Formats: sequence, structure tokens, C-alpha cells
Amino acid sequence: MCNRPIGIFDSGIGGTSIFKEIHELLPNESCIYLADSKNAPYGNKSTDDIVQLSIKNTEYLISKGSKIIVIACNTATTNAITYLRANYNVPFIGIEPAIKPAALNTQTKVIGILATKGTLSSELFHKASDLYSKNIKIIEQVGEGIVPLIEKGQLDSEAMQMYLETYLEPMLKQDIDYLVLGCTHYPYLIPRLTKMLPDHVKIIDSGRAVAKQTQTVLSQLDVLNDSTEQPSIQLFSNGDISVLNSILDYKFDVAYLDF
Ligand code: SIN
Repeated sequence: MCNRPIGIFDSGIGGTSIFKEIHELLPNESCIYLADSKNAPYGNKSTDDIVQLSIKNTEYLISKGSKIIVIACNTATTNAITYLRANYNVPFIGIEPAIKPAALNTQTKVIGILATKGTLSSELFHKASDLYSKNIKIIEQVGEGIVPLIEKGQLDSEAMQMYLETYLEPMLKQDIDYLVLGCTHYPYLIPRLTKMLPDHVKIIDSGRAVAKQTQTVLSQLDVLNDSTEQPSIQLFSNGDISVLNSILDYKFDVAYLDF
């Protein structure tokens, strides 16, 4: 039994799409979520900067007693998880674009992936995409500008529509039947993307898989919380907490933290 929290961090509010999956699958677990919105987006930063920010987030979560850390950010995972695993004595769960299920199930043999520049240019991403791109075509698209709009809560803006149309057009022309969302901010766009995409194009994100992997690792380490105490859910942001509150439908307590 272990009531220490699951620590989760992201460059901002997008990782709450992962937090929600974890909370749904593991409702008995305490969680502490850190949204580094002040420094969002991470996607255009250098690897060194991403590693430094990930270290700061990790050390805060460790100082709060986290028993495991979920890096709920594709850019931070692909650029910093190797360093973090080598330097901190806590298990890390990372998030990588779900290329595998798309590559294994595509009928048209063409899949699209929308992610940040930082993710698409990382070594970890290349390794994964090389592994699955033998018999299929993977169309990579940088989602430039999307994360800042989501951080401002502008999910339904005209600018968002324009970006998405621009990014989806070349993929649709090449007949993708899977769109992989390679950034934890993007699942908040699923309602809009569903309206924009033809019915046969499926959208895949990694949220559920990450929650299951977290459960598996906690179980293997025998640190799942089986006490009957009410778990504590704490969400912190160093940005505008009203956006975080509204994206979470005001269901959780969110506090401003100057970190
Ligand atoms: C970003 O901060 O640019 C996006 C975060 C992600 O890759 O999930």
C-alpha cells in the first residue's frame, strides 16, 4: 500500500488529457499535476532547454513525494526521458506518439502524425517511426501554433480552424486513414477534428495506453494505493489557472504556483 502521489507534468495544460485517463483508471490514487504553462510551448525549444525544464518539474514532484513520474508531454519525453531515467531514482512513464497501432492497422498504408517540431526531430521519435515505416508511408506534420492557442483556451477560434485545415490538407490528399496525435494538448481538438475528417480516418492518441502502463508499473512495484483514505488530487499551474479550470470543467481544485 502506498498513498504517495503519482506526479505528472506537462509544458502546460495538455497533459491533463493524460491526468484524466489516469484518474479514471486509478481513482484511488493521489495525483499531483504540474502545468508549466509559463514556459509553454516546449515544442520549439532546444533539447538542452527542454531537459532543464524537465529537471525542474521532476525535482518539484520528487520533493512532493511522488512515487512515480508521468511525463505527460511528448516533447519532454522524447527529449528528456533518457536523461531523467539516468539521473533520478524514481520510475518514469513517458509518452510517445502511438505510431504502432496506426501502422499495424492502416488499410491505405498511409498514416499522418501531428506533433511538435521538438518531438518530430527527436532521436526517440525517429527510432519509433523507422521501426514501423517499412511498408507504410508516415506523413509527419509540425502543428506549429496549435499549442499556444490551446494554452490561451482558444480551441474554437478561427485561427485554430485555419491551422488545422492547413495541416490536414496534405495528409488527406495522400489518403491517410489514421491520424496520430503526437502531443498531449491535441486530444482537446478531437471534437473539432472529428467534424473535419472523413469518417474512415481514425484518430489515435496515447492517453489510455499511458494510464494502463502507469497501472502496470505501480502494480509491478507493489505501490498501488489500496487504503480507503480519500485520495488527494492537486493541480498546479504557473500560468492562467482559469484556462486550466475551464478545460477540466471546474471539476478539480487548481492552484497557482510560482515555479
Ligand atoms: C509543447 O509544449 O510544445 C507541446 C507539448 C507536447 O509535445 O506534448
